[in-house]
Order: sequence, then C-alpha cells, then structure tokens
Amino acid sequence: MTDIQFNSSNQQFHLCNDNISYVMKLLPDGELVQVYVGEKIPNPKDLSYTISTQNRPLSLFSEENNNNYAMQLIRREYPDYGNGDFRIHALEIMQENGSHITCFKYKSHEIFSGKKTLPSLPATYVEDDLEATTLEITLHDPEIDVDCVLSYSIFQDFDAITRNTKFVNHSNTPYHLTKAMSFNLDLPDQDYHMITLAGVWAREREIVRTPLRHGIQGIYSNRGHSSSEHNPFLALVRPNTDEFQGECFGFTLVYSGNHLAEVEADTQGMCRVSVGIHPQGFDWKLTDSFQTPEAILVYSKDGLNKMSQTFHNLLGKRLCRGYWRDKPRPILLNNWEATGMNFSETQILDMAKEGKELGVELFVLDDGWFGGRDHDKRGLGDWFVTDEKKLPSGIAGLSQKMKEIGIDFGLWFEPEMVNEDSQLFREHPDYVLCTPNREKSLGRNQYVLDFSNPEVVDCIYNMMAKLLKEADISYVKWDMNRYITQCYSEKLPKDQQGEVFHRYILGVYALYQKLIDQFPKVLFESCASGGSRFDAGMLFYAPQTWASDDTDAIERTKIQYGTSMLYPTSSIGAHVSVVPNHHNHRVTPFLTRNHVAMFGAFGYELDLSVLCSEEKKVVAEQISYYKMYRSVFQYGKFYRLANPFSENVCSWMSVTEDKSEAMVLYCQILAVPNVMTKFLKCKGLNANQLYSVEGFTETFTGNELMNIGIPIYSDMWAQSLPDFTSKLFHIQSL
Ligand code: DGJ
Repeated sequence: MTDIQFNSSNQQFHLCNDNISYVMKLLPDGELVQVYVGEKIPNPKDLSYTISTQNRPLSLFSEENNNNYAMQLIRREYPDYGNGDFRIHALEIMQENGSHITCFKYKSHEIFSGKKTLPSLPATYVEDDLEATTLEITLHDPEIDVDCVLSYSIFQDFDAITRNTKFVNHSNTPYHLTKAMSFNLDLPDQDYHMITLAGVWAREREIVRTPLRHGIQGIYSNRGHSSSEHNPFLALVRPNTDEFQGECFGFTLVYSGNHLAEVEADTQGMCRVSVGIHPQGFDWKLTDSFQTPEAILVYSKDGLNKMSQTFHNLLGKRLCRGYWRDKPRPILLNNWEATGMNFSETQILDMAKEGKELGVELFVLDDGWFGGRDHDKRGLGDWFVTDEKKLPSGIAGLSQKMKEIGIDFGLWFEPEMVNEDSQLFREHPDYVLCTPNREKSLGRNQYVLDFSNPEVVDCIYNMMAKLLKEADISYVKWDMNRYITQCYSEKLPKDQQGEVFHRYILGVYALYQKLIDQFPKVLFESCASGGSRFDAGMLFYAPQTWASDDTDAIERTKIQYGTSMLYPTSSIGAHVSVVPNHHNHRVTPFLTRNHVAMFGAFGYELDLSVLCSEEKKVVAEQISYYKMYRSVFQYGKFYRLANPFSENVCSWMSVTEDKSEAMVLYCQILAVPNVMTKFLKCKGLNANQLYSVEGFTETFTGNELMNIGIPIYSDMWAQSLPDFTSKLFHIQSL
C-alpha cells in the first residue's frame, strides 16, 4: 500500500510503499530539502540531523538574518538559480528587468489518492485510485508571483516515484522560462557508477558504465527526438552493484524530444541528478502556465535486474495503454529488407500468401507505396496518392486482397516529413520547419514538417485517417528518418521561437492521440531510422518500437540486451532477416536469428517465398513454436543472465508470473576450442518445483537449475558451440 504523510510538528513529508521511502523536509524559511530516498524506513523520525547546518569557508547565506544553512551545502528538491547554490539548477526564469534570479519557497501542499493525467503529454496512469498516492507541493516566488508545483506520485505495485513540475504565472507579466527540469534529486554521497545507453544508428543502446568523477557528466539529445545517441535513461548504482545485488536508482523521462540528464558530483561529496527537457534552445513564454514532462525514478536494492523488471512492469502496464497493451502481439512479415521501394502488387501478395501459409498473422507494407516513390527523393507527404504503377488496386484494394488471403494488413507512414518533390510541398512550402533567409538542410532528401503548427498536424491527420477509414488497416509503422535542424516556425512570433522543439513533439503526440481516438484497435509501432526514438513517451501511444535497422542476430543480442535495461520485451520489435546481413554482412544460422528475435514483438523481414522448402519448414515450425509460447516470450519476467558486451555469450530468460514456465536463450558469440561443459544458472524459478528442460530427458528442481544450472555441453572435440550458435530451452513445471 502507498502512503504520503506530512508531519506538521517536524515539517517532514514521507512518501512510501511497502519497499521504498522518500523523505523531504521544510526548513523554517520554506526551503524544501531532500533528506532520504531508498529502502523503506517505516515512520522515520525527524531527520534534521542529516541536514548540514555547519558554516564552512566561502559558504553563502541567502538571507541576511538566516545563517542556519548554506544553499551550497543542503540537498534541495528543486534548486533555483543565483542564491548561493552553484550546482546545476532545475529552473531558470528570465524577467523583464533582465534578472533570472528566483527564490521559490513553500506555499502549500495537497495529498490525494490516485494520479492526475498530464494535459497533452504522455504519463504513467492508474486504473484505480488505490494504486498510487500523489503529493503536490506548491512553491512560490512572491517577487514575480509565479507558482512552481512539484508533483510526486508513489505507486503501490512498483518501486517507483514519478515527478513533474508545473509553472503557473499569476502575474500579468509574460516571463520567459528558459529551464524547466522535470526532476532533481540530491543524494548525500557520490559513491556511484553511472550507467547510460549510448549508441548510434544500427548500434543503439549500448550499455556504458563509468564511475562518477567530480564535475558534471550526463547525456542529452538536441536532435529534436530522443535519439539513438543517448537514450533518455540514466542509472546510478553502487560500485559493487551487479545484475542481482546492490543499490540502483534508475531515471527516465517520459518524453520523445530534446532531453538532458546530468549528474553533478560536487566537491563536498554529494551528488545531484537532474532530468528534463534540454534547456538549449528552450525558451517558453510563460503567460499562464507550463507543464514539464513526467520523469520516473525507480529504486532497487537488489541489482539491475530488479530495477529493469520494475521499469518493465510500470512501462508495460501503466504507461502503455489501450487495446493492445496486454494482447499477444501479432507475428508480422515486413517487406522492407526484401524489396525496398521496388515492388509490385503481385510480389507483395505472393509474399503475404507465403507468410499466411507459414503462420504469419500480419503483413506490413513498408516505404514506397505512395506518391510515385521509386526512390527517397519523392513522395513523402502525399499520403493520398497511391503509386498505381506498383499497386493498381490502391491501398484499399490491396487490403481487401490481404483479407481474402486471411492475413491482417499494416502500412508504413512517415507522417512528420515531406519531400520537395511532392504535391504537399508544392502547395504548402510554408509547412516545413526552416529559418528565414537561411538554407534549409535536407536529411535523407526530406524536410521536417512544422508539427508545432496545428494546421499541419490536421492536414496529415486528414490524409492518414481517410486511408485508415477506406482500407482495412490494423497496424501502422510510424517512421521518422531525420533530425531536426533550422528549428523555426513561421507561425510563431519571435519571442516564442524557443517553444518550437517542444511544440513539435506536442504536435506529434496530438496526431497520435487523434488517430488512437479514431482507430483504437490499430496497433502502432514507432520507428525512427530503426531505434532512434525508443523512449517512454512513445510507448504511451505506440506499444511497440522497431528496435534497430540492424537485424544481425549477434548485434541484436547487444541491442536487445541494452534495450531491456528499461523497456519491456513486448515493446521491442525484433525480426528475422536474410544472411549475409544487410548491415554488417555477417552470416549467422537461421535458428540463432529466430531465437534472438523471439524475445520481442516477433516477425520476419525477408521474402519467405524465395526460401527453399527446408527453410520454409523451419519457419513454419518456429512460428507455431512461438505461438505456443508467445505469452512467455512477450510478457514473462525478464532476467539477464550473461552480458554480450563483456562476455563471449549472451543469455537471458523469461519466466511466467506463476513460475511454471520459462524460456531461456543461450547464444554463443565466437566458438572457443577445448572448453569444459558450462552451466547456465537460471533465475526466478520455484526452488522446490520439479521442471523439465527441453533437450534433456532427466528432470531438474528449480533449486538445481538456479544453483547448478543447465549444462551447456561441448562437442567431442571439446569445442564449444560453433560461432553464432544459439540454444533455446523451454522449461516447464511438472
Ligand atoms: C527506416 C526504418 O527503420 C526501416 O525499417 C524502413 O522502414 C525504412 N526507414 C523505410 O524508409
């Protein structure tokens, strides 16, 4: 159960559920400070003794008559700028007189059951008010008459606290909000390692772990989307923390635009974590109010696996929404790697027929079906012009033919983009983001539409909605293939140009929401040149994301392993493709490609009709196997067992909630000569339960499987499995 108490005698707030506590305190002058976060402390006493009140050389006091504490030495909940705290600050407001000094102190608070939604922004939610309790603390700066409302929700079933901040301007002066972080957390020491998910196209979300050093370190995106360079995720873990033991704080931002997450290890031995919209280029004209995105803090005292499982549950169950949230995700066949933009209706229907025969449930027609798009210089934006040379029956006709075949039909869009060679651009050159009197830069031969302009969003909505109404479409792949540059909107006045990046993302969310309202059963899969917009914000609208254009099974072990740090398996789009792989030319066994992709929203990215009969047989078997165990793969509790970033093996497993069944992947990267039998220790089983393990005639107790492990035999020449070979073990309780 969750509880939030305010003890008026010691001015202390305590937020807790069964496992975690978060404690804050009001100082006599109304300054709000953090005093404890971590494992639950039931009924904490007055924790004033944790607040530094000693005077130190060069400390500054914000009030002349109050030198009880120095700003630089206390742990502040939402640090403002310019009053003697020289660490990174959470907010900045430019005022008419040129000052950006503010001084926010406690004004009031409110505690209530449940959790509010955030207008126009994605956020975690509750289905019953008993699932969470919320505290809203209003801070106020009387000089500018602005409130800053800090909102905290603690969940009953997840060891997580969500936060967001709202600024309300009660004055008649339009200030400029130039920094508005969602989250600040000051911790009393800095004995941590920082974990982030860095990457690049085709190598998304590689796990990077470094000890904290003095100074500021962090991750960011200023590309207009969350990016493959730095996923909006950061964890602070103790140096001895590993997958199964040790303390971890994990942070993410429920947002898909520019972001910044920083950690400052100061020279007094404390550290500060700050998460929110990137302030670079951000300048919001604060006439009435501004709402930040939500940030999530997850706490685990039992290692990274536990932290990830909390994220998986929270994001999977209380961030993803709608018809598809808990449903088995369809096995799909996508034509992109097989045909690119060069296809005919006959070819597409042949692929779909073959897919249907082998058990595929959904055919996805990727890029190239519209606006004369034989190459990537033409057509984006013309979602009303089907390429009739390729598809003589149009999209509606094609979808009917798919229906006759008995397979669902999905379609690719890139709603936020336009090519110069398109009817949309010829009619509306004013619809693109560009800076007056400067060159517009092209990326993949396309411009970015000005989604900060609701007229543009409506125009794209009308085209997409018409098609979704006319044709039988059950899935949409929403792509986004370039970064945002020359970010300027013709529609906004000069003093609001700093709002364009954020308004753009609000426009993206608005379009998603309109489509979801109108077509609630359509499954959306988000994509941005593969996995460049894999973030919690997107999951609110699109329950799955194409994890990477890199479909090589060995690269995928790393990509999916890193992605699993916070995103649930059901959200990870993972497909089997041809060899040599298109991106790294590696040749991996068909089975390995299948095994790795099965731990995700599974599908194929190749022309099944050109496979030989033996391969087709394997595909049919794999698909029926996947269907049998789909819920274990997609919705089981996920455990990482061997790390492909540091070991020559990747291993993970997925266990049903009742521990009766599990699926285990063991994937050898390179073969090693002369090795002994290895034992793969499982996790999450029932110790006293007897289990069968696929491939073994003898049975094992859960205890044996977790403490001794599944034997991985070497062959008679004492060679481990060959390069890139995998094994998949189904474990079943008896
Ligand atoms: C990038 C995506 O990641 C691919 O899967 C494919 O949809 C192409 N775009 C199409 O242009």
